[in-house]
Parts: sequence; C-alpha cells; structure tokens
Amino acid sequence: MSSFKKIKIIKPDDCHVHLRDEKILKKVLRYTERFYQRAIIMPNLDKPIIDCKKAIAYKSRIMDLSKNTKFEPLMTCYLTKDTSLNELKNGFFNKIFIGAKLYPNQSTTNSKTNINNLSEIFHILELMQKIKMPLLIHGEENHFNIDIYDREAQFIDKTLVPLRKIFPELKIILEHITTKEAVSYIKEANSSYLAGTITPHHLMLNRNNMFFGGIQPHLYCLPILKRKIHQNSLKKAISDGNKNFFLGSDSAPHLYTNKINPLGCAGIFNAPSSLLCYVTIFEEMKALKYLESFCSKNGANFYNIPINKESITLIKKPSKILEKINIGKNFISPFLSGEILHWSIL
Ligand code: NCD
Ligand code: ZN
Repeated sequence: MSSFKKIKIIKPDDCHVHLRDEKILKKVLRYTERFYQRAIIMPNLDKPIIDCKKAIAYKSRIMDLSKNTKFEPLMTCYLTKDTSLNELKNGFFNKIFIGAKLYPNQSTTNSKTNINNLSEIFHILELMQKIKMPLLIHGEENHFNIDIYDREAQFIDKTLVPLRKIFPELKIILEHITTKEAVSYIKEANSSYLAGTITPHHLMLNRNNMFFGGIQPHLYCLPILKRKIHQNSLKKAISDGNKNFFLGSDSAPHLYTNKINPLGCAGIFNAPSSLLCYVTIFEEMKALKYLESFCSKNGANFYNIPINKESITLIKKPSKILEKINIGKNFISPFLSGEILHWSIL
C-alpha cells in the first residue's frame, strides 16, 4: 500500500476552456478530457461559433478527436449584435448551446463583436432571461482610457450592476474573476442568478510573477494578473466553500511564436496542470473539504445539469508538468512548464 495521501472526488467539469481547432485542438484536447468529464467550450475561434450549425460542426470535430468516450463538450454561442433570437432559442432548447458568451468589443482574443454598449443587445438578453439561458461574460470594461488593472472593477460598477437591475433573473456567470471587487460583488449578491469562475493561474499568481526576473510573456492573460491582495481574495473565496464560485480554467493555448512576439497574445495554456493547481491551492488554504464542490458540483448546479457519476482520484505524489507540446515546427508552452507540483492523478 502506498502511503501517499489520496482524495477521490466526482470527476470535475471545466466550465471555461478554449480548445481552439484543427492542429491545436488535436494536441490539447487530451489534457482537458483526462481531468474533466465535461467542458464548456469557448466560441472565440478565428471564425467564431455564432450559430447552431457552426456549434454542431465544431462539437463533432471535438468528438471525432476525443479518446475518452465519456467526455462531453458543452458548446456556447458567441454573441454579436446580429445574433438571431431564433437561433439562440432553438440552440438552447435543443441542447446545442449551454449558454451564450458575451465579449465586450475587442476585450480579448478574437472578440470583434462590435458590442460596445449592452443596450445594443437588450433584446437578446431579454430572451435569454425569459428562457433561462445562462450568459457567460468576459467582464472587462474595454476602453483605452481605462487602466487595464481597473477594467474588471469598472465593468462591475458601470455595466453589471445596472444590467442586473434591468434583468434581475438573467443567469450570469462572471468569467475568470480576478479582483476582490468581483469576489465581494458575487458574495454579497448571494444569488442563484450570479456566479463566478476562477482560474488556477489567478489563484497561484499575481502581477509580480509576470515581471519576475524579466518580462514573462507566458503569464500574460486577460483579465491580466492583479495585485497580491486580489489573489488572496480569490483564494479566500474558494476556501469558504461558497456555492457561487466554481472551476473554469480558462486554459487558452497559443502557439509559441504568437506569444513571443512584439504583439504577444493573451492566454495561458494550463490544461495539463489545472486540476493539480486547484488541489494545491485548496490544500494550502486548508480547504480540501470544499475541493469537490468547487470542481464538480457548483458549476453543474448553477448550469442546472446533472452532477457527474464518474470520479477521479488525486494523489499527493510529485508530478512534473510537461515542457512543451509540439505543433508541427512550432509548439505550445504549458503553464508551469517543466515544474514539479506536489499532486498527480492516479
Ligand atoms: C483567451 C483566449 O486566448 O482565447 N485569452 C485569455 O487571456 N484568457 C480569451 C479570454 O478568455 O479572455
Ligand atoms: Zn477564456
């Protein structure tokens, strides 16, 4: 018998992941499907997933490459000003879409949605509220004059608070939250209509890490890493066992040459280590008793889908994070590349 500590939990869902397409999809999918039973797939491909037909085709490209027959991709619709209400309604009722994703115009990778003011899509939000379709939001107020470190807090004040007054029963997931303002807003709302996902990198790092010993392009993501006070507030949020926070890794692979570039892309590819990072943080916070609800229950409950039946066992045994994934002559450098974590999966 090994003496390593083990934790068995219901197999988690990754409620926010970018799998990309074609040759990248082919190489990154295996990590997500190894650790996660289901994953909510972001629609910001170079040609975004804006309708049912595109979602069905993308889902089957994912399933065709999948080696885990039990893995289930859950698709999202990329909102634009022109999103058809019928498309959204049919997609949701026929379980093609689990929700729709709102990217304020130019807020991040592939987000030329032209949505500069939410009033431009009120008719869409009204429908979504009516049919109880979840709205996933990249919550950053994106204006050149707003300091990049303040964009999330300002989005809450200027956009989200007024929006929730108009649509109090719209189910909203504030994605990849990074600030103490977002944590308190979600906690105080204490509502079955508002939740937040939290990434492993925002739990493990703060903005100092991005400049440690030199600029670290692999740690550049959006929303950008914040001060330690915010990192601590996220760690506290998950260790209190609050049901309105759950796992969304925001694993976002980019080719090395697109990261190490004068205009390097935002995004951290963490799929090979995300679950191991979460368990590391829960252990550090002495909150392992809440690991399972954060990883495997809160998201499913919020999205109103069944809790998974499979389980996964985490074992306190060191593992080395793989160094790179070759993609033709290029490669992707994973989060914590080559580093040792104290946890593995059985
Ligand atoms: C994501 C990507 O690369 O698609 N990038 C990121 O920094 N997180 C988009 C996103 O979720 O913002
Ligand atoms: Zn993302």
